[in-house]
Amino acid sequence: MPVVGFHQARRPRQTPAAKLRREFSWPRPGGIAVSIAGASLIFSGALVLAPVVESAPVPVAAAVSQPGTTPGTSLAATEPSPVGQEPASTPTPGEKGTFSASGNSAAPIPARTAPPVAGAGADGPIQGLFAAGNGSPSDATLWDIQNPNSPLVLVNKQHLLAPVDYAPTDLVTPAVRSGSGEPILVRAEAASAIERMFAAAAAEGINITVKSSYRSFQTQVAVYSGYVASKGESAADSTSARPGYSEHQTGLAIDIGDADAGTTCDFNPCFATTPAGQWVAANASEYGFTVRYVAGHETTTGYLAEPWHLRYLGRSVTTDMNKHNIRSYEDYLGLPGAPGYK
Ligand code: DAL
Ligand code: ZN
Repeated sequence: MPVVGFHQARRPRQTPAAKLRREFSWPRPGGIAVSIAGASLIFSGALVLAPVVESAPVPVAAAVSQPGTTPGTSLAATEPSPVGQEPASTPTPGEKGTFSASGNSAAPIPARTAPPVAGAGADGPIQGLFAAGNGSPSDATLWDIQNPNSPLVLVNKQHLLAPVDYAPTDLVTPAVRSGSGEPILVRAEAASAIERMFAAAAAEGINITVKSSYRSFQTQVAVYSGYVASKGESAADSTSARPGYSEHQTGLAIDIGDADAGTTCDFNPCFATTPAGQWVAANASEYGFTVRYVAGHETTTGYLAEPWHLRYLGRSVTTDMNKHNIRSYEDYLGLPGAPGYK
């Protein structure tokens, strides 16, 4: 596998001025307010500074100016978090936004003659979960893994978000610790789960931080092109999703760090050995999250292991994945892996 791709070979030489700008771009304070127009500079700077598998330098201006974005709350602010807001399509009883059987106001689930989760394989364990009534989306449209508004949405190299520039309308900022200069933005139901998960970890002396969260289509354009420019297309594709193919665009994924473990293992496979990495591997499923890209499942997920990347699927799904000892969402859905793009 070539390490240097043609993109890198064609990269133009940088002028001294460009190098200077790069030195002062994200994540250094001087670069934080740079707009999306300067994203390529931001990412070239971040890539030089971080020899990591995935970094997520999100331009603040770009992230907060997306349509449908709720302005983030500062952790230093005294105002209450907007996390308590309920998305219109989610049930009220039970865990917010998860598919609680007790909170189901939809019609009873009929005897199954077709897969209840559209797009999933007929024999995937997820079908048994929902057919058994252990979880019930309140809105029938959420029973579709191609619906970007569903916590069940499948996003991988074979499943492009539709629309490709999808942006959630209920992004909020959970009241948890940040580990980067970018705002924390996730969908409301994931925000609630993140707060509970981080609090549970903190009670055990594990201080998790959020390094990256929602990334717009445009932000992912900059992230992915930065990797292609620095590593070549093939290497970039093993660690960074192409625009429209990233779970970060759903508002249901976060990258985490360990506040007490230093930054050496941030976005690095050794994150799995940090207290935070070990804690989420053992406990995230209780809060509706799964470690999405697990070692040994690269040809299924399409990516090298990312022990820091958590995907919210809802507690019904993640605890059921554990029960069946299934480590990838593709396997849980009963679908083929997604080692590459169509
Ligand atoms: N690093 C993951 C695959 C992403 O870019 O979404
Ligand atoms: Zn990630």
